[in-house]
Amino acid sequence: MKQDMIVVLDLGSSENTTIAREIRALGVYSEIHPHDISAAELAKLPNVKGIILNGGANRVVNGVEIDVAAEIYEGDIPVLAVDHQDTLAWPEDPEDRKTILEDFLFRDCGAEANWTIENFIADQVELVRRQVGDRKVLLALSGGVDSSVVAALLIKAIGDQLTCVHVNHGLLRKGEPEQVINVFGKELKTNLVYVDAVDRFLGKLEGVADPEQKRKIIGSEFIRVFEEEARKLAGIDFLAQGTIYPDIIESGTKTVAAVKSHHNVGGLPDDLQFELVEPLKMLFKDEVREAGVALGLPHNMVYRQPFPGPGLGVRCLGAITRDRLEAVRESDAILREEFDNAGLAGKVWQYFTAIPDFKSVGVKNNARSFEWPVILRAVNTVDAMTASVEEIPYAVLAKITARITSEVAGVNRVLYDLTPKPSGTIEWE
Ligand code: XMP
Repeated sequence: MKQDMIVVLDLGSSENTTIAREIRALGVYSEIHPHDISAAELAKLPNVKGIILNGGANRVVNGVEIDVAAEIYEGDIPVLAVDHQDTLAWPEDPEDRKTILEDFLFRDCGAEANWTIENFIADQVELVRRQVGDRKVLLALSGGVDSSVVAALLIKAIGDQLTCVHVNHGLLRKGEPEQVINVFGKELKTNLVYVDAVDRFLGKLEGVADPEQKRKIIGSEFIRVFEEEARKLAGIDFLAQGTIYPDIIESGTKTVAAVKSHHNVGGLPDDLQFELVEPLKMLFKDEVREAGVALGLPHNMVYRQPFPGPGLGVRCLGAITRDRLEAVRESDAILREEFDNAGLAGKVWQYFTAIPDFKSVGVKNNARSFEWPVILRAVNTVDAMTASVEEIPYAVLAKITARITSEVAGVNRVLYDLTPKPSGTIEWE
């Protein structure tokens, strides 16, 4: 193993990720683990040089103050107890904290500042090889950032012991299925099963106008298609997932209740039992992107904006029809292209188009038209809980409008959504 590690044990602090990131910023890899980890489990973690007991407001659980096992205090690994309730023991000033952490890491623990994304990848490659041996791994490859980076890492670790399944449900952005096939199937020569499930999904969604119902159908149909493919591929023992650290936090820790349950590929039937391979589960999003670049994935795959699981399905408002679905896909591609041209692409957090299910009167080519409008949305946010609207230069809006109304079939108007969140949500459904 190439990297030293500092383990942060969660004793009810809301600052676990802050301290883990502060340690990584000093060049030492750190992982967060629950307070009730046993000394034996701890001994299995590679290269642990020090332990931080990270106490805080949630230290009392069901009326009892939680603590780590006595052997952990008595072991050979240096321990630093931090209490976020007590500002003398743990100062609020980041510079003071940095001094305390530096003393602990480099003087008390003798850790080396050897955390780099390249070392992380090398260590994960080694760990995946140890876990998997000569057996086989399956991955649902959506083409999103997390699953793409997992795929690239596993190709490096286990090559053709990996099989990727890409389900095209017809609700992806323009060019996405093609990019998955090119990058993974052709360039990286992965075992890639491409499933064209477009008709199947659109058939199931026909006439369904309720947004939650649409989401449910897309989610459950996805699992069904993936399950069918998994059954066809005999002899697979492992399921890889693009779980990243924020997913684990949102699912709740032993001291913090769940924000929402998280499933990357949840809900597979009980008789399909896989052991999980989750090599990114200790990384934050920016580190996942860094790993993707280091593994040689294309920049636009690694730096893509967030995209909802149900895809364009929640942007083709009301009951999905093929003509409007194509219109939303084409207009989204134009919006993205013009944001690139205007230098807005890396600056705006999320931008997309939506298409409502009503028409309006217009004139096109000297004749009356009766066609759909397209709605543009561009927002900035830190945590997606609230969002503000980007002030797009008028000339850019005018160019996008001219292109959409002339290039996209069935569209005669373009609207810009000026609503922050709240009162709107980012998506329309
Ligand atoms: P809202 O619309 O709730 O969106 O303001 C917040 C963020 O979440 C994304 N989003 C989803 N992501 N499945 C997802 O994986 C979904 O069903 C879903 N709905 C919204 C949305 O794009 C935005 O980034």
